[in-house]
Amino acid sequence: MRELCKTYRADSGSPLHACDRVDMEAARGEIVALTGPSGSGKSTLLHLIGALDVPDSGTVEVDGREITGLGRRALAEYRRGVGFVFQRFHLLPTLTALDNVTAPVLPYRTDFDKRARARELLESVGLGERTGALPSKLSGGQQQRVAIARALIGRPALLLADEPTGNLDSGTGKEIVEVLLGLRERFGTTVVMATHDPGVVARCDRAVELRDGRVG
Ligand SMILES: Nc1ncnc2c1ncn2[C@@H]1O[C@H](COP(=O)(O)OP(=O)(O)O)[C@@H](O)[C@H]1O
Ligand SMILES: [Mg+2]
Repeated sequence: MRELCKTYRADSGSPLHACDRVDMEAARGEIVALTGPSGSGKSTLLHLIGALDVPDSGTVEVDGREITGLGRRALAEYRRGVGFVFQRFHLLPTLTALDNVTAPVLPYRTDFDKRARARELLESVGLGERTGALPSKLSGGQQQRVAIARALIGRPALLLADEPTGNLDSGTGKEIVEVLLGLRERFGTTVVMATHDPGVVARCDRAVELRDGRVG
């Protein structure tokens, strides 16, 4: 990201610089923690990186390609190559773990077997024995592992995680980071993760602290 800016303008009051001239880089395969208090701009920055939102100015370059100038179709394709994990797991309650993982690619023709890949991903997050379980039968940590497997079904090079351990106790949160470290080892996935959890930050390669939308 270079000089990335996003300002919210309320009808009244002064403009709010949620992202204020942010310069930041992540190397391929790096696991970067985005830290900073609530309201410091972590989610805004993740949304800008994932092209879920558009910056007012500045650039985001991923894999040598500047995404800020892409047209609609190219942007949709870019987004399919990015995995997202959220604080709340957002699993579909009536689908099994396996069917939750295949859900994002169901509408598409793929050059891989969807169920076989889903099974492989569930194994790599330690849920090989629970592929048929409904979310309600899984613990919070297990549900987040399913959500991570789901985010990886399209083999994204980049995984964006917004407080993925925020609903978990600190021990389970650390397990989730271990899962992410294992996935990086296996698939080379780059991870940018917003988190306040010091135990999680300690396991990341690097931390970038935001304050009022600024790095530093
Ligand atoms: N859609 C929006 N409209 C107006 N203000 C917003 C919007 N989204 C976020 N903000 C404001 O931008 C700032 C950064 O928010 P956010 O990126 O959610 O921070 P964090 O994820 O670190 O808690 C906050 O002051 C928040 O209130
Ligand atoms: Mg947030």
